[in-house]
Amino acid sequence: MPRIAYVNGRYLPHGDAAVHIEDRGYQFADGVYEVCEVRHGMIVDLTRHLNRLDRSLSELRIAQPMGRPALIQVIRQVLRRNHVRNGLFYMQVTRGVARRDHVFPDASVTPSLVITAKSTDPSIIARKNALGIRAVTLPDNRWDRVDIKTVGLLPNAMARQQAKEAGAQEAIYIDAEGMVTEGAATNVWIVDKDGVLVTRPAEHGILRGITRTTLLDVTERLGIPTAERRFSRQEMLEAREVFITAATSICFPVVMIDGETIANGHPGGVSEKIRGHFFDIAEKTAI
Ligand code: PDD
Repeated sequence: MPRIAYVNGRYLPHGDAAVHIEDRGYQFADGVYEVCEVRHGMIVDLTRHLNRLDRSLSELRIAQPMGRPALIQVIRQVLRRNHVRNGLFYMQVTRGVARRDHVFPDASVTPSLVITAKSTDPSIIARKNALGIRAVTLPDNRWDRVDIKTVGLLPNAMARQQAKEAGAQEAIYIDAEGMVTEGAATNVWIVDKDGVLVTRPAEHGILRGITRTTLLDVTERLGIPTAERRFSRQEMLEAREVFITAATSICFPVVMIDGETIANGHPGGVSEKIRGHFFDIAEKTAI
């Protein structure tokens, strides 16, 4: 069964799905994206993802490709046509096709919209949760607007590749002051020496992850002491627990960073507890 993608108004097998060579996403990484999880046939945190998509678009002055009800219909169609019950879908919106020129094209150029979906294997995620993952730290060499979820992901791809070559699954960025920003495709959390769950404030230097936002709801509901403050690489290495969050993974424990074992080298109880309650509290939308 071929995978089906939505490309600018058409549902096409992946082999036939293509965008124009002068699409500004291809020429300038002039576009934004969202990744959402699907679990047991329900879309997780759809409203928050669509709200962030709207924000990313407005920060870059890209028009909405279509209204929200229509967009949700297209998402549902892509998920149904790909028979996704557990998996992910990706939405990419670019400024559209225009003769190559750095300056934005005039308003008659319509944005491009691509939506794809894939099934994932829950047993792979369960294994990573049981064992924990490894990470490396790298200097944060990205631009200043990482709060916008743009498709300009080359530094992130290079960081993940560097992590892979070092036998790790994530790269954690460190800013010029030695403080943790975020992962190449995740937000980072620690349980500090006092047992407080800590994550960097989302004002500057990180993407405001949707999983991060929902997780803050979860910790409030569970009464887990939580603080949004910056923390250093050193504090992270000495933490009781480290984990990373994203729509693709919810909450993966990190048990080794730069070859140093975190705590006793096993996944900690806080991430496990949060994971156990995450889907009760997250918004769920039926396909
Ligand atoms: N990445 N920080 C960065 C740089 C990210 O790319 C992501 C998500 C996150 C977590 O955001 P959320 O909880 O909304 O998924 C933080 C997606 C999953 C990706 O690029 O595949």
